[in-house]
Amino acid sequence: NTKTFIFDLDGVIVDTAKYHFLAWQRLASQLGIEFTPEHNEELKGVSRVKSLELILAIGNIEASQEDKNKWLIQKNTEYLSYIDDIDQSEILPGVLFVLDYLKKNKHNIVLGSASKNARPILEKTNIMHYFDAIVDGNDVTNAKPDPEVFLQGAKKMNDNPKNCIVFEDSVAGIQAANIANMISIGIGDKEVLQEANFVFPDFTHIDINFIDNLVNR
Ligand code: G6P
Ligand code: MG
Repeated sequence: NTKTFIFDLDGVIVDTAKYHFLAWQRLASQLGIEFTPEHNEELKGVSRVKSLELILAIGNIEASQEDKNKWLIQKNTEYLSYIDDIDQSEILPGVLFVLDYLKKNKHNIVLGSASKNARPILEKTNIMHYFDAIVDGNDVTNAKPDPEVFLQGAKKMNDNPKNCIVFEDSVAGIQAANIANMISIGIGDKEVLQEANFVFPDFTHIDINFIDNLVNR
């Protein structure tokens, strides 16, 4: 009974959501926009370009394509400076245990991330070898909540979406998983991730029984 487990990256596997937030917040304050953690929830899981559009909409700012391109580069440069020297210590608690268990039981393990920086992060944190397939921001055209990223993951494994289980920390990502007809597991705050089929504060709360029940249902 093989299942396909699809992992989001930022905020699920690695603690990089905080770096995206810091970099967006700096740009926003430079543009005179007040950008709160609540606003940031809407950006999670969303592509870089769409994130900038959301921030500009919050500030009611219209900008030229030239300025937008400049700001996108500025944000990514700052983000890259944060992740430049990350290592395995940035992997969130309990993640490696779950990855090991899934690997041992021969399930498919897939990355489904909106980030164009996904591969270097998997390399730096030394977890590339877990993944049977990677779908990231370089592969998809439609940002979450569009299900494209997860559907591509299922396709790469030749698996049916109904046989896929998605781990996500973002509202947009949970919506994408639900639209794809996959089981959605939220990692984070139950209040925020209300639409998920299950929610856990982090991977240390996910035990083997829960995974076995999912696999056998
Ligand atoms: C992830 C993060 C977002 C980020 C997006 C694009 O989904 O949750 O916060 O903006 O990827 O990442 P990138 O590294 O390509 O800018
Ligand atoms: Mg995420």
